[in-house]
Amino acid sequence: MLAKKTTWEIGDPQTAFTLPAKFFYDPEIFDEEKRNVFFKSWHCVCHESDVPEAGSFITENIFEQSVIVVRGRDNEVRAFHNVCQHRGNRLITERRGKVNVVFRCGYHSWSYGLDGALRAAPRSECLQGFDKGGHGLKSVRMEIFAGFVFINFDNNAQSVAEMCPGAEAEIRRFIPDLDNMRLIEEVDVSVNANWKVIQENSIEAYHFDLSGPVHKHLTSLIDYKSYTLKEYGNWWTYMAPPKAGVTAAYGKAINGASYQTDWFFNIGLFPNTTFYCFPFTDMLGTFIMIPTGPETSLLRFGYYGPNGQIPELTKAGIHWMNTELGPEDIALNLTTQKGLHSFGYDQGRYLVDAERSNQSEHLVHHFHKLYYQALRP
Ligand code: FES
Ligand SMILES: [Fe+2]
Repeated sequence: MLAKKTTWEIGDPQTAFTLPAKFFYDPEIFDEEKRNVFFKSWHCVCHESDVPEAGSFITENIFEQSVIVVRGRDNEVRAFHNVCQHRGNRLITERRGKVNVVFRCGYHSWSYGLDGALRAAPRSECLQGFDKGGHGLKSVRMEIFAGFVFINFDNNAQSVAEMCPGAEAEIRRFIPDLDNMRLIEEVDVSVNANWKVIQENSIEAYHFDLSGPVHKHLTSLIDYKSYTLKEYGNWWTYMAPPKAGVTAAYGKAINGASYQTDWFFNIGLFPNTTFYCFPFTDMLGTFIMIPTGPETSLLRFGYYGPNGQIPELTKAGIHWMNTELGPEDIALNLTTQKGLHSFGYDQGRYLVDAERSNQSEHLVHHFHKLYYQALRP
C-alpha cells in the first residue's frame, strides 16, 4: 500500500511528480480548498445578456453560498447575497427569472428593490428604532469582464482584468461579436469527479488521438500538429487552426456555414472558467467546473450564439458536445476519479517535452502549480 502524500513539490514540469491523489478526494484538503481557493477567486456567473432587462436575475450557488445577479432600473448589474435580512431565509431558489419591482421573501414578505434596498417589512412600524436603511440586501463584489459577469467573496482580490492581462483581447480576437452573443442553451451535468480531474482532462491534447472515437473526429477537424498550449500566469490558451480541406463536421456539410472563427479555440481563467469555440461553429461555449463536494462537481455547459437564426452547423456542434464529446470525456473523468483512490497510486508524471508540443502536458502542471500556490499561500 502506497503512503498517500498531503503536500506537493511543485518542481519543474519535465521532472516533477503529479499532484498527489489525496488532493482529489480528501475532505480536509477540500475544506482548505473551499476557503483558500474558491472563496477567494472569481466565479463566472453568466453573460451580461443573461440579465437583459430591469428585474432579470440569475442566481449562482458556490457551495452553501448563493448569490443573486440582477439588472436594476438604472441598467446597472448588481450582485447580492441571496438571503433575506429578517431571519435568513433564502430569497430565490430558481437559477434564472424576472421580477417586476421587488424580490419578496416567501416567509414574512420582506421586500427588496432591484438595488437591494429594503422596501417593505410588514408590521415593522411597531418596532422601536427600526431603520429600513440598515437592512438592505448585502452586496457581493462583481465585475464585468469580456462581457461576462464574475463575482468574488474576497474584497481584497485583484480584479479579473488585473489578474488576467491580455485575456480579454485574446477572446475578442476569436469572437469579435462577443458583446452581442445570446444564450442558446445551458446544460448542467452532475459528474462524480473532483473538479480538477475535469479541468486536467480539458487542458491537454495528449489523449485526443489515444482515447475514444469522438476525440478522433475532433482531431479530423483541426490541424492537430499545430495545436498550441500556452500559459500566461492566471490564464492559458489551447487552440488549433482548422485542418485544410475539411468538408463536413458534426455530421453536417461545412458548405454554407457561418462562423466567427474556424479555429478550435479555448481559453481558461484560474480556477474553473473556460471559454471556447468549436471549429466552423458560430458559438462561444462556456465550460465551468463547479465543485459541489470533494468528489462531485456540477459541470455547467453554456452555449452562446449570435442574435437571430442559429446556423445548422452550430446547432450540430452543440448537440455533438452534449451527446458525444462531453460524455466521452466525462467517462474518463469518472474512471480517473476511481483510480485516484487506489492503494496502488499516489503520483504519476507529466508528459512534458522540451518544445511544449501539441501533446505536451505542461498546462496540467501549470494548473496544479496555480492551484497549489492558491491553496497553500
Ligand atoms: S425571513 Fe424573510 S421575511 Fe422573514
Ligand atoms: Fe478530451
